[in-house]
Amino acid sequence: MNASTIAAASLAAVIVCAAGPLVARETPAAGAQFLVAQAATPARTPDVIFVPTPQQVVDEMLKIAAVKKGDVLYDLGSGDGRIVITAAKRFGVRGTGIDIDPQRIAEANENAKKEGVTQLVTFKNTDLFTADFRDATVVTLYLLPRLNVKLRPKLLNELKNGTRIVSHAFDMGDWQPEKHVKVDGRDVYFWTVNDLARKKFGQASTDHK
Ligand SMILES: C[S@@+](CC[C@H](N)C(=O)[O-])C[C@H]1O[C@@H](n2cnc3c(N)ncnc32)[C@H](O)[C@@H]1O
Repeated sequence: MNASTIAAASLAAVIVCAAGPLVARETPAAGAQFLVAQAATPARTPDVIFVPTPQQVVDEMLKIAAVKKGDVLYDLGSGDGRIVITAAKRFGVRGTGIDIDPQRIAEANENAKKEGVTQLVTFKNTDLFTADFRDATVVTLYLLPRLNVKLRPKLLNELKNGTRIVSHAFDMGDWQPEKHVKVDGRDVYFWTVNDLARKKFGQASTDHK
C-alpha cells in the first residue's frame, strides 16, 4: 500500500467513524415502541483505524500459515471479519475475531451470516491487548509496526510453541520473520512461536518504530 492509498483509505475510515454507527434500539413509551438511533462507540479509541486486507492478501496469509481443518484462528483487530470468515469457508476452521469497535463486530456478524459460517466463527468486542487467545494455533494481524512490537511479549508468552503468526504489511521489529512474501506489492510476514524467540523477545521492548 503506498502512502496516498493509505491516506485515502484512512480518511474514508475516519469519516465513517466520525459519522458514528447507528443501531436500532427499541424503547417502550406509552404503550408504543419507537425505534431510536443510538451511536455504538468503542470503549476506547481504537489503536488503529479499520482498513480491510484485500482478498488476494487474505488468501496468501492463510496459505503462508498453511491453515487447515483443526486449526484455531484468531484475527486480532478483525474489522469486517474477512480473514476469520474466509478461513471458515475455505477450510472449515474455527475462528475468533477480536475488535474494539462494536460497529466492526456488527458488520462481521452480518458477513458471517451472509457467508453461512456462524457455526464456526465468533466475534468479540474487546481490546486485543487484554483478550485471551491462548488456544490459537494461528494468529493473524493487520495493525501497525509499533502495535506488533507492543503485542510481541503477549504473543510469545501466552501462545504455545508452534503457533503460527501472520502479519499483513508490518513486521515485528528485530524478531526476524521465517518467511516474507509480496502479494500485489504488499508485504506478508510469517513467524512461529518457539523458545528461542520467547527468550529473546518475550520482554516488553523499546523497539517501537
Ligand atoms: C487495519 S484494520 C484490520 C482489519 C482486518 N484484520 C483485516 O485485515 O481486514 C484494524 C482493526 O483493528 C481494530 N482495533 C484497533 N485497536 C484495537 C484494539 N486495541 N483491540 C481490538 N481491536 C482493535 C480496528 O477497529 C480495526 O477494525
